[in-house]
Formats: sequence, C-alpha cells, structure tokens
Amino acid sequence: MKRTVYCGAVRKEHVGQKITLCGWVHNRRDHGGVVFVDLRDREGLVQLVFHPDRPEVFKQGEGLRSEYVLEVQGEVRLRPAGTENPHLPTGAVEVWAETVSVFNDCKTPPFEISEYSNASEDVRLRYRYLDLRRPPLQKNLLLRHRITQISRDYLVKNGFLELETPFLGKSTPEGARDFLVPSRLSQGQFYALPQSPQLYKQLFMVAGFDRYYQIARCFRDEDLRADRQPEFTQIDIEMSFIEEEDIITLIEGLVKAVFKEALGKDIPAPFPRLSYDEAQSRFGSDKPDLRYAMEITDVSAVFQKTGFKVFSGVLAAGGVVRALCFKGGAAMSRMEIDKLTEWVKGFGAKGLAWVKVTDKGPESSITKFFTSDELAGLQKAVAAAPGDIVFFGADQAAVVSTYLGALRVELAKRAGLSKTQDVYKFCWVVDFPLFEYSEQDKKWNSVHHPFTRPSPEAEEKLQDGSGDGVKRALGTFKSRAYDLVLNGTELGGGSLRIHRSRLQGKIFEILNISPEAARAKFGFLLEALEFGAPPHGGIALGLDRFVALLAGEDSIRDVMAYPKTQKGTDPMSGAPSAVDELQLKEVGLKLSAAVVGKKKETSPPGETKPAA
Ligand code: AMO
Ligand code: AMP
Repeated sequence: MKRTVYCGAVRKEHVGQKITLCGWVHNRRDHGGVVFVDLRDREGLVQLVFHPDRPEVFKQGEGLRSEYVLEVQGEVRLRPAGTENPHLPTGAVEVWAETVSVFNDCKTPPFEISEYSNASEDVRLRYRYLDLRRPPLQKNLLLRHRITQISRDYLVKNGFLELETPFLGKSTPEGARDFLVPSRLSQGQFYALPQSPQLYKQLFMVAGFDRYYQIARCFRDEDLRADRQPEFTQIDIEMSFIEEEDIITLIEGLVKAVFKEALGKDIPAPFPRLSYDEAQSRFGSDKPDLRYAMEITDVSAVFQKTGFKVFSGVLAAGGVVRALCFKGGAAMSRMEIDKLTEWVKGFGAKGLAWVKVTDKGPESSITKFFTSDELAGLQKAVAAAPGDIVFFGADQAAVVSTYLGALRVELAKRAGLSKTQDVYKFCWVVDFPLFEYSEQDKKWNSVHHPFTRPSPEAEEKLQDGSGDGVKRALGTFKSRAYDLVLNGTELGGGSLRIHRSRLQGKIFEILNISPEAARAKFGFLLEALEFGAPPHGGIALGLDRFVALLAGEDSIRDVMAYPKTQKGTDPMSGAPSAVDELQLKEVGLKLSAAVVGKKKETSPPGETKPAA
C-alpha cells in the first residue's frame, strides 16, 4: 500500500511534505477556476486543491464525482490566511494534488453520505455499507472498537482468560424465546442459539479456569425495541471464590477505565447502591434514572383518616397512597391531565388524582374531599411549591410503583430532564427478590434464572426444609443478584450462583420443575455441580447499550454494524429468506400449507429502487 497518511490525520506538521492519500470524494466545489475536493477516509476529511497550473490534474479534478474512490499524491500546504476551517481538525492545511488515480467511480448514492441524512431507516439498512461511510457511524464503530479493546485490556490485566463457548448448543435459561437451528445429522432435533453463555461459563468455573471473560454474541427471539436486538453482544464475565463485592469492584474499575480511556472522563466510584425495594418505592423502577430527583413519596400516613373514598378504600385493603410532585406542572391543562390519566391506565392505574399548588391555594376536582390538615401534610411531604402539580397513585404497592414509575420517566422526558449530555448517573440495584409468583401460571418463577444464589437468610431457610413455613416466605426471599444501571438503562446484570446440587434441587422443586424435566433441560450443569463445583458468580454487560450511552445515541442500532429492523429483518441481505426444498428435506422439515401460502412482505435485495 502506498498511503502515507490518513486524510483525517493531515496536520500542520506535514506542511511541505509530499504525501499519498486514499479515500472517497466527499464533495467537490468549483471556485473561480480552482477545484476543491474534500477527500474522506475513516479518520476524517481533508481538502484537496486542483489548480489550473497543472492542466492535466485539474481536468481530472473537474471529472470527479461524489464517492469516487481515489489515490492522490500531493503537497501539503498551509491554507491561505482567512480560509482556515476551525471546525475541521485538518482545517489549517490543504493538499495540492499532483497525481490522481481513480480506483473506481460510483453510482449516485441513494442518500447523501453526510452527517445529516434524512433517509428512512429501511433505506439506510438496505445500503448499510454506504450508511456506514457516514461520519457519525464511522465514529460510533471506532468508539465501539475502543471500548471492547479497553475492556479486553482491563480484564486481561486482572487475570481473566478469554474463552469461547458454542453457538450451537442447548436452550439456555434467560427466559426469552430461542432461535432454533435444525440438525441434519440428527433429523427432528434442534440446536438452540445461546441466549447467553450462562451455563457454559459456569462449567468453566467447575473446570477450574477461575476467571473467564468473553465478548459474547447472544441471540434472543424477542419483540424488538430501540434498546433490544435479536442478536447483541455482552461483555460476559464469571469468577470463582468470590462475593458480590468482588464483581462490583471489578466492574466499577472497568467502567472507570472505559470512560477515562475512551472519553477522557473521570467517573466517581463506588456507585450508589439501592435495594430493589427502595428503587421500586422511591423511583417506581428497578432501573431508576438518577439524573433527576422527582421521587415518589408515600403519603399513606397523611390520608390515614381521609374522607376521600378512593384513598380510604385502598388503605383499608392494605394498599398505599403515593404521590409524585412535578415541579412547574401546574400549568398543565385539564385536557393534558386527562390524556395522561388515560396513558397511565395502560400501566395498570385505575385513575390519576391530582392537586395543583397555586398562589391561591390547592386546586383540584378532589380538594373538597380533603381537610386543610391533609392538604398541608401532603404539601409538606412532597415539598410542593406554588406552580407544582402533585399526582397520586392509590393501589397495592407494586401496582402504584409501576405506573408512578412510568409517569416519573414520562414527565421527566416532557420537562427535558432526560435529554442530557455528558451526565452519567450509575447505580447498582441489589437485593432482588428470588422468586415472583405468576398469577397466570399459578406458580413461582425465578426473578433472574434458577441458578441464582439465594441470600444467606433465604439459603438457611431453604436448607432447613420445604414445609409450609418456607412456602409462605417465598415472596420475601432475596437473591444475591445485582444489576448495573446507567441513566435509567439496565446496562448489565449478574449474580452469585448456586454451586451445590442439593440446594439447586430444592429450587427446582419450588419452581415446580420435576427432577426429570430439570435433567432433560440442564442435566449437564446439575451433574457438574456434583463434581466439586467451586462457589462462583458473574455478570454480563450489554456492550451495545454501553456504547450507545457513551456515543449519545438513542438506539443501539446506531452502534451496531449490521443491525436488524424492528421486524427482525435485514433489508440488505434479505434475511430471513426462504430456503429451497432440498435444504428443508435434508433437515427433515416441511413447511405447513399455511406458511407456504403467506407471501414475504419485504422484497429481496435488488428489487427495491434506491430512494431519489
Ligand atoms: P441479562 O439477561 O440481564 O443477563 O443480560 C445482560 C445484559 O445484556 C443486555 N441485553 C441486551 N442488549 C441488547 N438487546 C437485547 N435483546 C438484550 N438483552 C439483554 C442488557 C442486559 O443487562 N447470563 C446473564 C448474566 C449473568 O448472570 O452473568 C444474562 O444474560 O444490557
Ligand atoms: P372517581 O372518584 O373515580 O371519580 O375519581 C376521582 C379522582 O381520583 C379522579 O381524578 C381519578 O382519576 C382519581 N382516581 C381514581 N382512582 C384512583 C387511584 N386508584 N389512584 C389514584 N387516583 C385515582
């Protein structure tokens, strides 16, 4: 290769040198007989000058079009005074072209290759290789590379081994739907793509590797959102002979290293820790956004003797009354409040009582039900000042948490409190419940996965027996799980694991998983626990979410090279697509008539017309 310097790296130090650049024509401007071309590569842009003094090269310059790919030799010169561009790192210099070879021309791209593109996401993904040429995506993928590299260096320095685990495996217990791969050699049998390396990493601990990590691809067939993709990447970690503190300290160090080395920022640690119960009652969420206060306050005590039937009824039934004060919200119109009331009903609310605090006193359709003591007590409890509005949630605690938590996030969004730059509020959420009761399944389920280690108190009770006492206490048992939260996003989660087969058996019993079913599903892990499994635990960070938060992107699609659309398709390759009958036959499959009759909605590549 003849390139001597990247376009984006040309600086004053190069002035007077002859250099060779390779890159793409970003744009071309003809100015009074001189042609200027911005040449672009992954490091940035530099201005080329084609001067009529060199008629042959000048002519070539005139013939260049957007996205032609070139090699250019030329001399670096200072830009004439007054023509510098302070917004470009290369803005003090320009390269006077002497020889040019055009490696390739380029059809008119379907959208402008620039910072700003208003092309639809479908078109962008259809031509992802052009989308990826755009400077913001180049920047995001370079940042992604930096973050993985810093993480690798940090983990290796801390004694971790990078080990791989299979893609073709057995269903893993993360609770999402599996992607299945039919087997040709064992027709009628299927591999499952891993939802995470969970079981294999635990087996590495049994095998004695002690400290494992992997930048691991995971597959989950779930409904997609801005922060969820069907395949995504985890920084996956497992360690032996440790307690929660070891993982927490390790990860805080990792986060600090990434921020320092990738962004030059100091992140204060240790991060605050909240118990799950506290996070729920104060913020209505197990991933609280701590960039703004706006806490939920329990005001049950204030309304203990209230004449307002809605509240007294709920309190008599063992429920709670909680309040959320929205600063400056008194300006909200009746219609806005009514709309918000309908909206919170989607989160399980039965209504949304409110009181506005004005200079003239409290204002609401329900103030007539409250005594002045109650109103004063409320105002004090939530520190409401004139101009604020207070919303109420009255129901069982878990229901109120869910909808006031959603309301808190929504109001913060409206007030612009969650549109921040350079604000990073981390916290750990700990002491999760071990089990949750599913009304639908009429049984207890694990909150994390069934291998999560119970708290010492719960473990003691579980070891003592599984009688009625234990059954009644199941809802109060805590686990040794922890989640890492950044700005209201769950960045990672993990736990200490059960390492004794007897306790694991008890847990399966409670989850109503029969020994046969447990053997069929995770027999290999259960067996391994019988062969000297050490105490161990781990965590996985969502790499895509981490990069998106650092890059300031709302969607993880903007930090992944080749993401899927919301419908899980890849408009570029046309995946998923039909396969021919022979391929199906080889794996012993036949499509049902109903599926064959369905027409594919997206057209294969080459059939869509580029957008003008
Ligand atoms: P968990 O299921 O919490 O834990 O996943 C860990 C982290 O992975 C990220 N994540 C996702 N990112 C993008 N798209 C998705 N569909 C998606 N699903 C999860 C999140 C999440 O916090 N085996 C355990 C870890 C352990 O216990 O060690 C696990 O996978 O950021
Ligand atoms: P109602 O008595 O049903 O007309 O409700 C009076 C006010 O209380 C309305 O503003 C309702 O939105 C509100 N409300 C009703 N039920 C609840 C509840 N469970 N929690 C909070 N507010 C409620």
